[in-house]
Amino acid sequence: MKSLINNLDLKKVLSEKRLHGLWMLMSGYQSQYIGAMFYQTISALAKSGTYLLLQYFVDNFLLAQTSGFGIGVIAVGFVLLFLVQGLATFFSQKNAAKTAEGTIQRLRNYLYNHIQNLTFAYHAKTDTGDLIQRCTSDVDAIRRFYADQAIGLGRIIILFIVNFIALLRLNTYLALISVIVVPIIVFISVYFFRKVAKAYEAYQEQDAILSTTLQENLSGVRVVKAFARQPYEIDKFKKDNYEKYQRGRRLLTIHSLFWPISDIFCGAQMLVGYYIGAKMAINGVISIGTYMAYAGLIIWIIFPLRNLGRMIVQMSNGLVSYDRIYKIIKEDREPLDKGSISSKEKIRGDLEFKHVSFHYEDGSEVLHDISFKCHSGMSVALLGSTGSGKTSLVNLLPRFYDVTEGAILLDDYDLRLYTRRYLREQIGIVEQEPFLFSRSIYENITFGIKDQVSTEQVETAAKMAAVHDVILSFPQGYKTLVGERGVTLSGGQKQRVAIARTFLKDPRILILDDSTSSVDAETESVIQDAIQKLMQNRTTFIIAHRIQSIMQADLILVMDKGSIIQKGTHDELIQQKGVYRSIFDIQTRIEEDLQKEINSAS
Ligand code: CTP
Ligand code: MG
Repeated sequence: MKSLINNLDLKKVLSEKRLHGLWMLMSGYQSQYIGAMFYQTISALAKSGTYLLLQYFVDNFLLAQTSGFGIGVIAVGFVLLFLVQGLATFFSQKNAAKTAEGTIQRLRNYLYNHIQNLTFAYHAKTDTGDLIQRCTSDVDAIRRFYADQAIGLGRIIILFIVNFIALLRLNTYLALISVIVVPIIVFISVYFFRKVAKAYEAYQEQDAILSTTLQENLSGVRVVKAFARQPYEIDKFKKDNYEKYQRGRRLLTIHSLFWPISDIFCGAQMLVGYYIGAKMAINGVISIGTYMAYAGLIIWIIFPLRNLGRMIVQMSNGLVSYDRIYKIIKEDREPLDKGSISSKEKIRGDLEFKHVSFHYEDGSEVLHDISFKCHSGMSVALLGSTGSGKTSLVNLLPRFYDVTEGAILLDDYDLRLYTRRYLREQIGIVEQEPFLFSRSIYENITFGIKDQVSTEQVETAAKMAAVHDVILSFPQGYKTLVGERGVTLSGGQKQRVAIARTFLKDPRILILDDSTSSVDAETESVIQDAIQKLMQNRTTFIIAHRIQSIMQADLILVMDKGSIIQKGTHDELIQQKGVYRSIFDIQTRIEEDLQKEINSAS
């Protein structure tokens, strides 16, 4: 039962209809929620029971001036009614809290899981800050909806119905007089509900913009500092923040307008009720006991009513947040296991591109008619100016994106026949600026490795990547934490940890996207050596701007504006007149000049 509740596929049960969606979101907890309402009813009944008992006591004992055994019974009755009221309220809150927290915990888990599984294309077009905003602030608005507003609204309605029936029992005319104001309050509430929903949505949107700005500035703090852009960024933040302030103020103004308006009506209602009731009591139409009970009961009708508006208005937050979260849930996940080939055996790594063209969703074509072939174990180098489509090309291999025309064959089968999971298990990617998690170095090296690995294997991988000694130089060795809470690794060290990770993964196909590399690769010849070792016996795609790092490749593809303009080995290409030779000439000349300068300086 428990796991069934937790594994609910929210995407299947939710819909555009907000209230229905919020109800379905509670699946597995609904009966508890109904239980919470049931306890609210008990509590309300006990409450109006006390007033009816009061009426009985005043009329039959106090005014009749009788005493004796009956008074004791009535006293016990009061105590019992208060006790029931308190207990019922407690159980109601308990059930509501359990429902709200349970539902929200599941929603959070689901969202995290879902976001991890969304497509590359989705993440490319979505702001991280906006996602964070939806997963935190909006989720919390829904929690409040369950914990406070929905239960509060239920309480108000139940209190109203029960107390109104009690009033009817006292005196029909008085009862009707006491609720004239209800339609007005409901009307005002609904009016404000609409206004607040709009203002709140605008507020949340602005909040998301602010989160995005903050998040980008934190992750891009080095760029900001390097360009001395702090004043501009601070100014931008200030402007966004001011907009948030204005929207927040608007939201609060609407809220604060609602209160006095509803208070005027509620107050007038009370006065009229008390006045008419008192007149009737003086004229003997109703008894004193009835009047006293009435005076108490009317409070329990008007006060909830006063809250009704607040509840309805606040509920709009939950509904807006539901929409914002449902937008994420609606997105399709990347089908990791769709495809017919997912055998446990390793692939060989023969690849063939057959007239491959590709464009991003709603973008123009970035790869045109790419055709080439490479055998298992070969290295293919991609060279080309920035934006020529090198990264786009290699991203097709793990099926981050699928070709839009033509086909890629892996071991003679169309790549689209393989499941994405299987492909990604066999493909290793090393980036120039690899991302490491704020976890230990050990965990970073073993990241994504499914099988059990021994410490020895991890150390071997680290040795191959020439990072073992570096790691041992830290006081805590492999347990050293990386990132914010731990040591800061240099770019080269990070890259070597990533290489160790790839050694351990032992992929059949290797992708080295080095296109951002500057002179680093040369100065850190250790990395070059490690990469050379890593490339052995694997089909490798290497992207580099420097010819020195790709000269040995078995096949070099020179790309321009999404097309292959030259292909061959270094020796072949150097013979031809063309882009390759000119790049080679320029780079060797620069290096010769550099060498001369160094020589003359020393
Ligand atoms: N592009 C896009 N949507 C993406 C990624 C890239 O529209 N999610 C576009 C880019 O604007 C570019 C083209 O696709 O015009 C090729 O980009 P890419 O393959 O990343 O170029 P690279 O050759 O890898 O460039 P660099 O050397 O700078 O890495
Ligand atoms: Mg690139």
